[in-house]
Amino acid sequence: MSAEVTRCPESENNPRHIAIIMDGNGRWAQRRFMPRAMGHQAGVKAVRAIVEFCAREKIEVLTLFAFSSENWRRPEDEVSLLMNLFISTLQNEVDKLDRNGIRVRFIGDRTAFSELLQGKIAAAEAQTQHNTGLTLVVAANYGGRWDMAQAFRAINAKINKGELESQAVDEKLIDAHLSTAGLPEPDLFIRTGGEQRVSNFLLWQLAYTELYFTPKLWPDFDREEMVAAIDSFKSRQRRFGHTGEQVRNNAAILQL
Ligand code: IPE
Ligand code: IPE
Ligand code: MG
Repeated sequence: MSAEVTRCPESENNPRHIAIIMDGNGRWAQRRFMPRAMGHQAGVKAVRAIVEFCAREKIEVLTLFAFSSENWRRPEDEVSLLMNLFISTLQNEVDKLDRNGIRVRFIGDRTAFSELLQGKIAAAEAQTQHNTGLTLVVAANYGGRWDMAQAFRAINAKINKGELESQAVDEKLIDAHLSTAGLPEPDLFIRTGGEQRVSNFLLWQLAYTELYFTPKLWPDFDREEMVAAIDSFKSRQRRFGHTGEQVRNNAAILQL
């Protein structure tokens, strides 16, 4: 049977890579007169449902913003609660992710984390590295500016060692030194929680990403909301600088 026949028409135009700013946990809890911690716990449940959805829908990459390089500015007890939640979630979920063929990868400056958490991160990556299903990218202590700075440092080190000519530094080379190297660019960016900002997420990588903002708070974001976001994505014409007419007449130009 040819690939043409087996392909499901509904998922045909699915985004390959979805990147999400999971915002609104604190407000979700506060509206229920509960401590913010309960909002973060409810947020983990929402993560589970969305990861399952993406795996089932054959999305290639799901990137979740779990903790920004600026989130250290939060009260100490909230930061330590989040760290403990990362540790326990990794502990509880990795085997299940592995069984479902999901490959886990972390981006961000992990050296700031406790040795225990760094160990769990490395173990999760190692255990799932050969899986071929959904790639789940967790952005933890991540900042888009940090990512660019670390890429530039790595490139500079190669130039200093004589491994690289400075003339060779182009967009592709920078891409290859970002923490997202090897992943397709995000097609769809979703931010829950009502704010319409990027908050230092994937700055370089979002150059041509379709943006989707929803007032839904992260713990309330479910498969239905995800379907609405993907439907919105599918209804858009991506032009990458071409005219609409060029794209209508020859969709293949977008692959060039
Ligand atoms: C997002 O929810 C989770 C993290 C930043 C870790 P928030 O905690 O930012 O929730 P709000 O924005 O205060 O409601
Ligand atoms: C962005 O949310 C970071 C994460 C969701 C992990 P924030 O709640 O930290 O963003 P700002 O501070 O409102 O911009
Ligand atoms: Mg927030």
